[in-house]
Amino acid sequence: MRPSALLKTAEPLAAPLSEFARDVRAGLLTAGQKRLPEKYLYDELGSVLFDAITLVPEYGLTRADERLLAAHAGAIARKLPKWLLIVELGCGSGRKTSSLLRALCGSKQVRYFPVDVSPAALALCERQLAGLCEVHPVRGTFLEGIDAALGRRTAGERALVLFLGGTIGNFDRHEARRFLGAVRSRLRAGDALLLGADLVKSIETLLLAYDDPAGVTAAFNLNLLARINRELGGDFDLRRFRHVARYDERHRRIEMHLLATAAQRVSIPGAGCTVHLRRGETIWTESSYKYTEIELFELSRSSGFEVVNCWTDREWPFANSLWRAARRSRAAEPSV
Ligand code: AVJ
Repeated sequence: MRPSALLKTAEPLAAPLSEFARDVRAGLLTAGQKRLPEKYLYDELGSVLFDAITLVPEYGLTRADERLLAAHAGAIARKLPKWLLIVELGCGSGRKTSSLLRALCGSKQVRYFPVDVSPAALALCERQLAGLCEVHPVRGTFLEGIDAALGRRTAGERALVLFLGGTIGNFDRHEARRFLGAVRSRLRAGDALLLGADLVKSIETLLLAYDDPAGVTAAFNLNLLARINRELGGDFDLRRFRHVARYDERHRRIEMHLLATAAQRVSIPGAGCTVHLRRGETIWTESSYKYTEIELFELSRSSGFEVVNCWTDREWPFANSLWRAARRSRAAEPSV
């Protein structure tokens, strides 16, 4: 239990708390910056709202990713061996993967293992891609999913891990390196990773993308409070919060916050707590780190990979980078 859970605002609890309830409690019952983990943005409604964001004209990330995969699927396929076990981390709806998978299935023997914590996403993804190749959905976290999928690797099969869509941006830079090192340690030399990362671009472009005028991103962010109300019986008044997107230049990251427009007290029975917010105080709900190509190159080396090729979109700076697991893992060595 975190020390913050022992503050005097904590109320006695009847039943053991779910992971969501524990994270809400720990993230909001803190003396410092209130935070909620970004993964909770994606309940059923949140996932639909995220899909809507991908259609927002100001948010170019997903379209850039899809353009790159559609344009270079053939080139990517040519860099890969014939027998492939593909593990996709966070498959989403499977839409962005279909053009790549189509190209790979045309010339190779492919088994595809989509990994997601959401059964709904897995079902959608299976429906979308089942016609193309053998699909084996795996429910679990990213590393659990890799372990489960690679546990079924057959002799002669090479692994290709897909980590697309810019999800790496949710990790801070230290976590990103550690996570990719953990992925590397599960692979064999010669296996591959295709990583999608959003690149640094003008601040105005980024701020518009994360605070679009139609308010789709605001709805996506505010839905997290609505979710707490729905699932934990909270009494957040969404009208007394405002979506805020900020760019932290030092860390090169977009931050999404929910700003309390008035001082307020919120009770969340399902998390066994009452939360006090000052006027102007924020709850930090997501970070989205932006990369440079050089940084991606360094990241590959320091996590035990070497870059095979990197494809970037001009219209919306975004990179899909194909890495090969290096002969000896350098993950533990200090970065250069
Ligand atoms: C799904 C993590 C890539 O960081 O751009 C979009 C999530 N948040 N708009 C991103 C998101 C607000 C998105 N990722």
